[in-house]
Amino acid sequence: MKTDSLDVGKTPSESSVHLAQLMLPEHANPLGNVHGGVIMKLADEAGSLAAMRHAGMHAVTVFVESMTFDEPVEVGALLHLNAQVSWVGRSSIEVLVRVDAENPLTGHVVATNSAFFVYVALDKKGRPTLVPRLVCENEKQKELVADGEKRKSARLRIRSDNN
Ligand SMILES: CC(C)(COP(=O)(O)OP(=O)(O)OC[C@H]1O[C@@H](n2cnc3c(N)ncnc32)[C@H](O)[C@@H]1OP(=O)(O)O)[C@@H](O)C(=O)NCCC(=O)NCCS
Repeated sequence: MKTDSLDVGKTPSESSVHLAQLMLPEHANPLGNVHGGVIMKLADEAGSLAAMRHAGMHAVTVFVESMTFDEPVEVGALLHLNAQVSWVGRSSIEVLVRVDAENPLTGHVVATNSAFFVYVALDKKGRPTLVPRLVCENEKQKELVADGEKRKSARLRIRSDNN
């Protein structure tokens, strides 16, 4: 186990991820806008990369929290997915993913989606394993961390209600 990085911790900036993907006709739903599932998949990819960067090991998705779909995304938009670790537990890593759609012709950018994703870091035997603590760099990050335990409790209630 990498005890050095566990002790020192990592900042959200160290693991943050930005992905950009052009939305093509193959991504469209029958109405001609981008299919929500395409956005969710890309958001999960960005989130899991941030979690893996934080953990320094593989991480699997265990929870997706209430993804918002605030604006439709048009085919032809450049989708930007920004993922930043917002809270960590022992083996779990919560990542806030924000999605923006850019019109590449005008540069106009619209915030379209956001969601919290939760991942669990797995050791080489596939067991949940400890992750580095999160070192906040600003007040906004501190606020997200401060509310993280509440969000975790709410998720575990949902897990137990669903089972
Ligand atoms: C991830 C997995 C190994 C965890 O197994 P588990 O028996 O629940 O493990 P634990 O009870 O030790 O929980 C491990 C951590 O996950 C968290 N967790 C588990 N289920 C959760 C849920 N539904 N929501 C939020 N957190 C959850 C626990 O709170 C714990 O966090 P902590 O270590 O920070 O305190 C198991 O749920 C799994 O394999 N899930 C499938 C993952 C997958 O296939 N994802 C899709 C492909 S990436």
